[in-house]
Amino acid sequence: AQAEKGGYKHFMLKEIYEQPDAVADTLRFGVEDMPSVFGMSGKQIKNIKKIQIIACGTAYHAGLCSKYFIEEYSGIPVEVDYASEYKYRFVPSTPGTLAIAVSQSGETADTIAAMKKAKEAGFKTLAICNVLGSTLTRMADHTFFTRCGLEISVASTKAFTSQLAALYGLAVFLGFQRGVLNSAQFKKYSTEFFALPRLLENTIKNTAEAVKKTAKKIYKEKTFVFLGRSANYPIALEGALKLKEISYLHAEGFPGGEIKHGPIAIIDSHVPVFVLAPKDNLFEKMLSACEETAARGAKVIAVTDKKGAEILGKKVFALVKIPEANSFLTAILNAVVVQFFAYYIADLRKCEIDQPRNLAKSVTVE
Ligand code: G6P
Repeated sequence: AQAEKGGYKHFMLKEIYEQPDAVADTLRFGVEDMPSVFGMSGKQIKNIKKIQIIACGTAYHAGLCSKYFIEEYSGIPVEVDYASEYKYRFVPSTPGTLAIAVSQSGETADTIAAMKKAKEAGFKTLAICNVLGSTLTRMADHTFFTRCGLEISVASTKAFTSQLAALYGLAVFLGFQRGVLNSAQFKKYSTEFFALPRLLENTIKNTAEAVKKTAKKIYKEKTFVFLGRSANYPIALEGALKLKEISYLHAEGFPGGEIKHGPIAIIDSHVPVFVLAPKDNLFEKMLSACEETAARGAKVIAVTDKKGAEILGKKVFALVKIPEANSFLTAILNAVVVQFFAYYIADLRKCEIDQPRNLAKSVTVE
């Protein structure tokens, strides 16, 4: 098994490092053939009235993150549901709905059940999935394959960033097809997007040590908070989920703006706060979240880019620097940082990283 890990201590770490390739392969084989992958005519695409995303766990966070860029680039309203909730709630049968199920395995019972419901409602269906021939891909009208290869670690990493890349490509494609993005914008976003593997590589190279060093200072704490806004809010949720999954610690993710409406009550010097704060239009807001939590004694770990670091500098307990990128793409880069954080904390706590207690790679019962 050690050989299969390619010299890495755990599959999870190996899979974190595989992300630039996983995303590159997903882009090469998926996004570039978007029209054929998507299988809808230009007219059908113009007629989409609503996108309904259904997924579980980490895949749900990819869906929630994509809401921000799909809505902005394509103008289509996006609703995101946990598959287990979608299945049992009343769903108005909005004509022109495209249901997108996101799943690494394609065998998650809740997601399959929700997909069945969407089909029964007469919605067009798309699966974003990593396994050829899985149940979900056989049910869906069309499939966008993420090409991240076999993911062994129970805690999902490279499947997550591949799903995000697929959804981002889809957003740009839909936006252009619907005339919301003009050719210049389409070109700009596509170019930025195809730089993603390289940005991920830089992120991995430049953050691993900083995260590890910070983890050593705080791994004995029992509660952690993750904050982010816009597309980085679901990444905060994902950071908290990863930490719960593999280190069994209490962690919560919140939108940066919500902290003052309740969660700030739990902040003290024993609750480290992880703030995802790229230097975008919401930076000032995240800066206040840093100040408000630091004022309550929290050790603030800020994840930001070069420009953000100049401002946050000495105000925070620790800084982790990611490359500069458009605000939506920083969410995908920050995903890597929160994965590293969960990994190093769990390793310092000597947890069973690849096989966490009580969890299964794919949950095939409802
Ligand atoms: C399980 C796994 C999670 C995963 C979720 C959805 O709970 O432990 O890591 O995110 O299922 O799995 P899927 O294969 O549908 O993406």
